[in-house]
Amino acid sequence: MTNKIVLITGATSGIGMQTAISLASLGATVVVTGRNRQNGEDAIKEIKAISKNNNIELILADVSTIAGIEGLVTEFKSKYSHLDVLINNAGLAANEFKTTEDGFEANFAVNVVAPYVLTTLLLETLKASKKPRVITLTGGDLPSKIQLDNLQSEKSFNGLSTYSQTKIAMMCLMYEYAQKLKKSNITINICYPGQASTRMTQNVTASMLPLLIRPMFPLFKMLVRPDNGKSAKKASRSSVYLATSKEVENITGVYCDKNVHLKAMPEVVTIDYNRKYIWEKVVGLVNG
Ligand SMILES: NC(=O)c1ccc[n+]([C@@H]2O[C@H](COP(=O)([O-])OP(=O)(O)OC[C@H]3O[C@@H](n4cnc5c(N)ncnc54)[C@H](OP(=O)(O)O)[C@@H]3O)[C@@H](O)[C@H]2O)c1
Repeated sequence: MTNKIVLITGATSGIGMQTAISLASLGATVVVTGRNRQNGEDAIKEIKAISKNNNIELILADVSTIAGIEGLVTEFKSKYSHLDVLINNAGLAANEFKTTEDGFEANFAVNVVAPYVLTTLLLETLKASKKPRVITLTGGDLPSKIQLDNLQSEKSFNGLSTYSQTKIAMMCLMYEYAQKLKKSNITINICYPGQASTRMTQNVTASMLPLLIRPMFPLFKMLVRPDNGKSAKKASRSSVYLATSKEVENITGVYCDKNVHLKAMPEVVTIDYNRKYIWEKVVGLVNG
């Protein structure tokens, strides 16, 4: 990965930070983003020390707002003329219904709108590389149906089910993006990291689980107890594979599972109506 430039959102902790360490260890220049300066500076120090690579940079940005993403892109473009790999890693599992300053439901803003806006604003910068790759992280336990009439919890908000709905919506959107860019040099793929002990999973509350599995909450808590980044490291494998492997250099629109096996997208994602509906919806919302 020497001479490659990688941008990873939400890489100041959890899976994103472990991905940054792996890619930096392979020689890439890695730009990590997060919202909090102290967390960010601590993360940069650790990534540099472990990877023995000093080409690591922090850009502070909140990807839950379009203004935040625009600021991130402006700063990135002021320093770099091209981008080899964009990893849309930042994700949100909100524990209650909230809206962002753009008026979007918060899960929808971070998990769906942000990957689309960031990829779009960086398209020319990506195209300036030889074989640019865009990778976006999805969740587990994905629903087999998408609630097109509840994309922003207009009807109901249901903790982790809402999170999963936004992840499947993101997959429809990015799969459609992959189809639209098939003739370009950019590949767009999705990966599932598997469950890891991170801030996101440690912040899950019992009320976010579906009623039926709520009694399993203590077991869930045990599974995500702090482990010094061990499970997050394992969970970074699918992102690292999609970012580095020669095998996927020319492959677009695929799903990489937690065991780093390439799979077809789930059926719900490939249904033309779903992908086109979500594409139109998101483009319409973003362009006002
Ligand atoms: N952990 C799992 O078990 C699991 C399972 C399936 C999928 N995933 C997916 O994997 C990805 C990474 O998850 P994780 O568990 O590693 O999360 P995490 O530990 O909670 O990572 C959070 C990172 O994202 C940043 N961040 C959070 N909100 C942000 C925002 N609005 N704007 C910019 N940066 C933001 C945080 O920094 P600041 O707080 O400083 O902003 C931090 O760097 C997510 O897309 C998640 O959905 C995780």
